[in-house]
Amino acid sequence: MTTDIVILAAGQGTRMRSAQPKVLHPLGGKPLLEHVLETAQNLQPRQLHVVIGNGAELVKKQGSDWSVQWWHQHKQQGTGDALRAALPGLNGADRVLVLYGDVPLLTSDTLQAFLAETPKDAVGLSTAMLEQPQGYGRIVRNAQGQVLAIREQKDCNAQEQTIAEVNLGMMVLPVAPLHDWLADLSANNAQGEFYLTDVVATAHDRQHSVWPFTFQDASEALGVNDPIQLAALERIYQRRQVMQLQRQGLRLADPERLDIRGSLHCGQDCWLDPNVLCIGKVRLGDRVRIGMGVVLQDVDIADDVEVLPYSVLEGAHIGAGARIGPFARIRPGSDIGVAAHIGNYVEVKASRIGAGSKANHLTYIGDSEIGTGVNVGAGTITCNYDGVNKHKTLIGNDVFVGSATQLVAPVKVGDGATIGAGSTITKDVAAGGLTLSRSPQRSVPDWQRPKRQPK
Ligand code: UD1
Ligand code: CA
Repeated sequence: MTTDIVILAAGQGTRMRSAQPKVLHPLGGKPLLEHVLETAQNLQPRQLHVVIGNGAELVKKQGSDWSVQWWHQHKQQGTGDALRAALPGLNGADRVLVLYGDVPLLTSDTLQAFLAETPKDAVGLSTAMLEQPQGYGRIVRNAQGQVLAIREQKDCNAQEQTIAEVNLGMMVLPVAPLHDWLADLSANNAQGEFYLTDVVATAHDRQHSVWPFTFQDASEALGVNDPIQLAALERIYQRRQVMQLQRQGLRLADPERLDIRGSLHCGQDCWLDPNVLCIGKVRLGDRVRIGMGVVLQDVDIADDVEVLPYSVLEGAHIGAGARIGPFARIRPGSDIGVAAHIGNYVEVKASRIGAGSKANHLTYIGDSEIGTGVNVGAGTITCNYDGVNKHKTLIGNDVFVGSATQLVAPVKVGDGATIGAGSTITKDVAAGGLTLSRSPQRSVPDWQRPKRQPK
């Protein structure tokens, strides 16, 4: 049996009060719609369709990497009308699974079970028993327990409002009769819309079976209508990811205070203090310790590294046993060597730092290559930018750079050289020996400090 999936994503999202289309708001750093697309893709449908309307061009642009068929619903006249927009694409499929673009937490396991348990030619409904069913369409059954209809909240009478069994929204529909069912929809209801849910009564009347499938975890079907719900779903999503990592052995001071906007892979015996933020692809080796408030973006961190609090690392590789921070900033294109130390208020950009080298305090290293066993003194600055071009600083092995040195690039420092503190190095430095550029110190013994004149 071939299955197509249609994702409805044309709605207004008025309650988000945002200029951005609702389905593009991020959850875990990724647009809501992308979560649904990924889950749908895992089910390997014959064809994946998305119905768009509001902000259609933006949505299409964001989803341009996905092999989906886009359909436009020009006026948002209800979920039934939205599915109609995709009807021409469904010929060739036996049935269609309808999902919503703003329901991002669904798992493919649940949907797989939903599809498997819905008999051929039946209408499959996703349902749950809720203590607070307000806002949802209610499942109306007869005395024999057969489903007769779905009644939208706004169309429920007082008795129907007490029904706790709700429609979570996802549906499985046979394609052959669907054309007629959708053609027969009427907008004669409280909202003046063409409700997709009305096909249930039609199907029942025409002797098609209607199969409710109860979700074990109704929170999977939670949707986003406003910023409060978006934030609540973000927490659920983050908790899911953290629990998965915990099951793999990750230890954290507080599982509520790790945010992953992308992916985090951890080796054995890693430890995270509170408020770590991971963006993009982050990989930690074994026994890595990450301090409080650290931001890691697209970084690859080898075994036994320690990142001390409030450091920001992006687009870098950190070698085994290195120590970074506190308050360090490692920028893209940096490669920090094995057992190197990058200390407080040190910024490293597009530079390679050799094994065992240290820059412990208040330093800027940009566009540089630094050998092994180098000591970069406090306050050292590579002057890599002349206002137009960036230039390289090349430092050999076992170099000692005295504090408050400026290295005016392009410049090379040979192996084993020592640079005296406070030097401004503008020419290449030979290997070995001491190099310094320092104006001679002088004293003015009878110097008088200026005195304030009395008024
Ligand atoms: C819908 C169901 C309701 C169910 C609830 C679960 C209908 C009539 N009602 O109600 O039974 O309990 O979901 O959350 O289906 N959309 C379009 N075009 C439109 C209207 C909606 O693409 O013209 C899309 C929206 O972008 C959204 C989805 O369809 O992704 C659901 O629409 P929404 O208006 O949120 O439906 P509900 O009123 O919540
Ligand atoms: Ca909704």
